[in-house]
Amino acid sequence: MKPPQVPGAAKPFVWQDNRVYFVDQRELPLAEKWITCSDEKQVAAVIRDMVVRGAPAIGIAAALGMALAFHPEHPLWSQSGVNEELLHEHWQGSYKLLAESRPTAVNLFWALRRMEALWQGIDKKLESLELFAALLQEAFAIWQETIAADQAMARYGAPLLPPGGILTHCNTGALATGGLGTALGVIFQVGRQGDGVRVWVDETRPYLQGARLTAYELAQEGMDFRLISDNMAASAMSRGWVGSVIVGADRIAANGDTANKVGTLNLAILAQHYGIPFYVAAPLSTLDRRTPTGQEIPIEEREAQELTRVRGTAITADYPVWNPAFDITPHSLIRAIITEKGVIEKPTVQEIDRFLA
Ligand code: MRU
Repeated sequence: MKPPQVPGAAKPFVWQDNRVYFVDQRELPLAEKWITCSDEKQVAAVIRDMVVRGAPAIGIAAALGMALAFHPEHPLWSQSGVNEELLHEHWQGSYKLLAESRPTAVNLFWALRRMEALWQGIDKKLESLELFAALLQEAFAIWQETIAADQAMARYGAPLLPPGGILTHCNTGALATGGLGTALGVIFQVGRQGDGVRVWVDETRPYLQGARLTAYELAQEGMDFRLISDNMAASAMSRGWVGSVIVGADRIAANGDTANKVGTLNLAILAQHYGIPFYVAAPLSTLDRRTPTGQEIPIEEREAQELTRVRGTAITADYPVWNPAFDITPHSLIRAIITEKGVIEKPTVQEIDRFLA
């Protein structure tokens, strides 16, 4: 069984010799280090510690983690009396571990549910190798579909962006999806069409996904870009340098309210003020119709040291901190959601229902 191939130059993970190799995104772009995972516990840890991040990428990682939990060399199989009950217990434990790794990106839960549907239908009396192969095949299918979805989003999204600079936030490229990227995939497509465009890259405090990862991917792609700190976006917009804003999503509620990296809401409000269209690019696996509005989306809160330190160096004292990783952009501020099946203009619960019907 051949693993999917990430189309771009930047790769969040590689499957080789029955292991996943994750590029350590905490170290990019200053160093390229790889972390090897051979079981579900290691995969849960790399998701939790943000070695791998970005909603679709953590979904794929979790699916690969579920497959690794049943690898023929996993200690599970050396226990005496392996029976269906034990296999099921191990399934549930692995599922819980991965599901608890990060709370906001719904692709994680979506991918785990996909694996669960396969598990329910599978013959548990299969040999360990067959069980593992079936799970791995499903994980690869999720990955392959993500690659195809990214390419479709790029095709739907690129023609929408008006001339002028494009501003983006966080990292939504290959590193975040295992494919071309969502919002950044659309931007790459615009660049590949030869429309000379400048990309404005929000540094994305406090984790700096923009400064470290988006800038790295744009440099590899050879696109023209300028890195700005998050509080410079209004200045760039006020000078007419930004024709559109495009971001990704970690979870889109049934009414179109969108959770994305904290700071996205600021941009949406600014874009409205300056009359700049604000787009979200996300695969349908990011749409969570079980969650009615943005208010019900769980927002991850991360450790204080992400704000008080930079690469381990203190930049202030250990003051009290509030560090939410995501914010919610109300659907009223979103011009359109770009998906792999087409574009949802001015998203509302009715528009989304109509689109999916
Ligand atoms: O905390 P992160 O780096 O996992 O957050 C990622 C984002 O907010 C991305 O914008 C989102 O996952 C979309 S990725 C295609």
